[in-house]
Amino acid sequence: MKSITRRSFGRGLFAALAASALRPAALHAQTHPALIAREGTLQLAPANYPQTQVWGYNGAVPGPTIRLPQGSRMTRRFENELPQPSTIHWHGIRIDNAMDGVPGLTQDVVQPGESFLYDFVVPDAGTYWYHPHNRSYEQMARGLSGALVVEEADGGPEVDSDEVLLIDDWRLAEDAQIAGGFGNMHDWAHAGRVGNWITVNGNGDWRTSVQRHSRHRLRLVNTANARIFSLEAQGLAGWIVALDGMPLDAPQPLGRLTLAPAQRADIIVDVTAGVGEEALLVSFERDGGYAIASFDVSGVARSERLGAPLPLAPNPVPQLGRLETARTAELLMEGGAMGRMSGAMMGGQRMGMREMSGAGKVWAFNGMADMPDAPLVAADRGETVQIDIINDTVWPHAMHLHGHHFRQIASDGTAGPLRDTLLMDRGETAQIAFVADNPGDWLLHCHMLEHSAGGMMTWLRVV
Ligand code: C2O
Ligand code: CU
Repeated sequence: MKSITRRSFGRGLFAALAASALRPAALHAQTHPALIAREGTLQLAPANYPQTQVWGYNGAVPGPTIRLPQGSRMTRRFENELPQPSTIHWHGIRIDNAMDGVPGLTQDVVQPGESFLYDFVVPDAGTYWYHPHNRSYEQMARGLSGALVVEEADGGPEVDSDEVLLIDDWRLAEDAQIAGGFGNMHDWAHAGRVGNWITVNGNGDWRTSVQRHSRHRLRLVNTANARIFSLEAQGLAGWIVALDGMPLDAPQPLGRLTLAPAQRADIIVDVTAGVGEEALLVSFERDGGYAIASFDVSGVARSERLGAPLPLAPNPVPQLGRLETARTAELLMEGGAMGRMSGAMMGGQRMGMREMSGAGKVWAFNGMADMPDAPLVAADRGETVQIDIINDTVWPHAMHLHGHHFRQIASDGTAGPLRDTLLMDRGETAQIAFVADNPGDWLLHCHMLEHSAGGMMTWLRVV
C-alpha cells in the first residue's frame, strides 16, 4: 500500500505539528428534541494550539447526527442563540415546502432568542444533512451543520459499521480561531472561501479501528463552503452505492471520487490493508495527497472479502416523463473574476460590475443579480421540467435544487443518477430534468456559499 504522509493544509500553517498525530477528543453529540444554534469550543487544530470558538448545533461540530427510519417524522425545535438571525435547511430532503428553511421564500428568519418548530416526514432513505440558510457563508464557515440519516426500511446492506463522515474545510488564523472576512469580495468573485484546515467530523486526525476484510458503509458529506474534494481510498476497496442520498441502480466500483460542496456519496468498502497497516481516505489537492481519515487495522474479521453488495432499494421518486413535452427553461450563469459579464440587473436597475460588487453582487443568473421576483419556471404539479444550464464563467459551480432530485441528461439522451447538487465545470453546459411533484417555491442556487450570496440564486414554483 502506498503510504501518504500526513501533512497539514495551507502554506505551512500547522506544518510543524503535522506529524504529531495528536488528536482532539471526539465530540459525542447526542440526539436531542431541540437543536440549539449556539457558540461552542472545539479542539479543531492540533492539541498544542488553542481551542477554536465555533458555532454549532447544540454547541457541537458537527451537530448531532439525526437518524430516523424512512417514512417517519423529523421533529426538532430550532432555537437560535446566535447573535444573528438563522434558519435550518434540510438539504436533499423532498420536504414539505414550509419546512425548507429558506428565509424570505418559505419562512421568516428566526431571530436571536426565538425558535421555530421543524416537523416533516422523510420520504427517502439515504444520507442528508442540515445547515443554516441565512448568511450561510458565515454561519457554515463557523461550524453549523450536521447529518440527517434516513435508514432504509429493509435495514439496508449488511455492514460491520455505518459511519457518517462530514468533511469540512476551515479557514483558521494563526491562533486557530476562525478567520474573519466573510464578506470578502475577492473570495466571492473567485472560488469562494476555501480554507487551510480540513476536518472529518470536526477532527483534524479522524481515525477509527477496523479489521482486515471488515465491511463499512461510509456516508461522505462535503460540508465545506466552497472546496471541491477529490478523494481516493487506499487499503479500502469497494463501491459507491448512493449519491446525494439516492441509491444508484447498480453499485459502481470506487475509484477517484469528486465531491462538490453539499454533495454526498455513500460508499461500501472492505478493508484490504493488512493487520498493523493503516487504510486511508485521501484528499488530493494541487500539491499532493493528504490523509483525512485513517482506519487502523487490528485483527481479521473474516478470511476473505465478502461478495459485491446488492443495490440499495430505490426511493419513491417519480419516473421522468417525456422530455419532448417537458416544460423547459434556460439558466445562464455569468460573472465572477475573469468572466465576460459587464453588468446585470439589480433592484430593477442595470448596474456595471463595479457598482454591483460595491453592492455585494458579482454573479448573475439570466442577467439578474438579485433574487428575481418571478420564478425561473412555474410548473404544474407532476410536470416534467427540463432546465438547460450554461456555465458561462471560468469557475466551477455546484448547482443545488431544493425539494426535488433531478437527473442530468447526457447529449445522447441518457439520464444520469438522481442528484440534488450538480458540479459544473467552467464553460460547461448541462441539462437537468425532474418531475416537479412537490408544490411550493424552491431555490435553485450555487452551493459555493459565497457565489449564491453574490448573486447565483433563483427559484422555481410548483403549483
Ligand atoms: Cu444545502 Cu440551499 O442548500
Ligand atoms: Cu458557484
